[in-house]
Amino acid sequence: MTDKAQATEDGQAQTDGAESLTVTDNRTGETYEMEITDGTVRAMDFREIKVSDDDFGLMTYDPGYSNTASCRSAITYIDGENGVLEHRGIPIEQLAENSTFLEVSYLLLYGHLPTEDELNQWIYEITHHTYVHENIKDFMSGFRHDANPMGMTLASVGALSTFYPEAMDVKDEYQRHVSAVRLIAKMPTLAAFAYRRSLGLPYVYPDNDLTYTGNFLSMLFKMAEPSYVLDPRIEKALDVLFILHADHEQNCSAAAVRVVGSSLPDPFSAVAAGCAGLYGPLHGGANVAVLKMLQRIGSTDNVPDFLQGVKDGNERLMGFGHRVYKNYDPRAKIIRGHVDEVLEATSKESPLLDVAIELENRALDDEYFTSRKLYPNVDYWSGIIYEAMNIPLDAFTVMFAIGRTPGWMAQWLELMNDEEFKIARPRQIYTGPREADYVPMNERNGSGS
Ligand code: CMC
Repeated sequence: MTDKAQATEDGQAQTDGAESLTVTDNRTGETYEMEITDGTVRAMDFREIKVSDDDFGLMTYDPGYSNTASCRSAITYIDGENGVLEHRGIPIEQLAENSTFLEVSYLLLYGHLPTEDELNQWIYEITHHTYVHENIKDFMSGFRHDANPMGMTLASVGALSTFYPEAMDVKDEYQRHVSAVRLIAKMPTLAAFAYRRSLGLPYVYPDNDLTYTGNFLSMLFKMAEPSYVLDPRIEKALDVLFILHADHEQNCSAAAVRVVGSSLPDPFSAVAAGCAGLYGPLHGGANVAVLKMLQRIGSTDNVPDFLQGVKDGNERLMGFGHRVYKNYDPRAKIIRGHVDEVLEATSKESPLLDVAIELENRALDDEYFTSRKLYPNVDYWSGIIYEAMNIPLDAFTVMFAIGRTPGWMAQWLELMNDEEFKIARPRQIYTGPREADYVPMNERNGSGS
């Protein structure tokens, strides 16, 4: 019996804290008192609830971890009901307006805004780690000509682990720091190489005279000109997009980084797991799915039929809904503010913009979506911006991965310093057969019996 959960003889509270939960096990009539801390009870306290001494004890069942806190974290605060997102306490709106992606990265990793000296040192370090080993180019050339850039990015992030074997020393503070620097610095280089490879274009090496985001745009789009000429509106919009993607507490990919990181591989391997989590259409792949959906709808006239199909359960309105936000995703609002500016800078007309606006307006006015609290999320508008910037559809999720890298590393660093560190190892409810006998091949009838 833990000192947090105690069976009571008479049903009286046994915990010393005023915040407690009393549970009666109707199988035995036994009553247990459990401490509530930070609005949370410890799942392990339920293991004390048993019908007999040799009983394993009660487990909690939570598919998708919808109501299970897996860690304590001081990085990102979200109030999903009210559409609030803060990093280290600072609202995302203030960061998007006043900060840069590299400054936000420092904030996430080290817990405070850098001083001028700290920021200059940080930018210097990131800028001087953007090159990748030449063998990475050979590695890239092994992919099929039409390989998906996200698949190439996740594989090459994992491959970085083999170039920095010293990163396995995850208890060494310098190795942790330099791995974070390398990952944030090299992710745009890997992403740009993957993009150029998919178009059969030569790789463009990093340009240390440019900003982080400017250098990335140069590595993507520079052709024969001596140096790439940037439009500040596009550079700013992309930097804001990176800021908006920088962290989002315990989402699928951050959880993947923590779960994999908990077996103590080097952080490149843990971040490769994060990239894999991000790849899927329900997470970072949603921006691709949104654009494909808008292309499929094609014109504003088709919006009502499309929405009817969603309501009939035939498909999902991609870019809408969120596990945590039950209100307009604050990131979606900020991105929306940059759409017109980017279209103006690229002198593009986006026929999909009208479809997106019509779809959003109708969905926000429809009881099906409002009653389920389904609002646009971060991915609803980002695809329109990427498309206007000439980023190919397959590379959208890679953009998300660049933005999310400091968040993954901040989550990983926090895990490494966690006093309650444990290897991740969930439980299951076993539903399969027991004590079945091996059946020789010639006696099997194919139905499993
Ligand atoms: N379109 C239509 N119905 C939806 C949608 C949607 N996009 N999202 C949720 N619902 C419905 C769902 O069918 C369910 O209805 P009912 O109660 O009648 O069964 C109800 O709303 C609750 O949905 P849920 O699937 O239980 O919600 P969840 O928290 O498990 O899923 C989600 C969250 C993001 C996976 C989901 O909303 C979704 O699939 N959205 C579309 C994909 C998307 O845009 N993903 C990007 C998320 S934000 C970026 C990121 O963090 O990666």
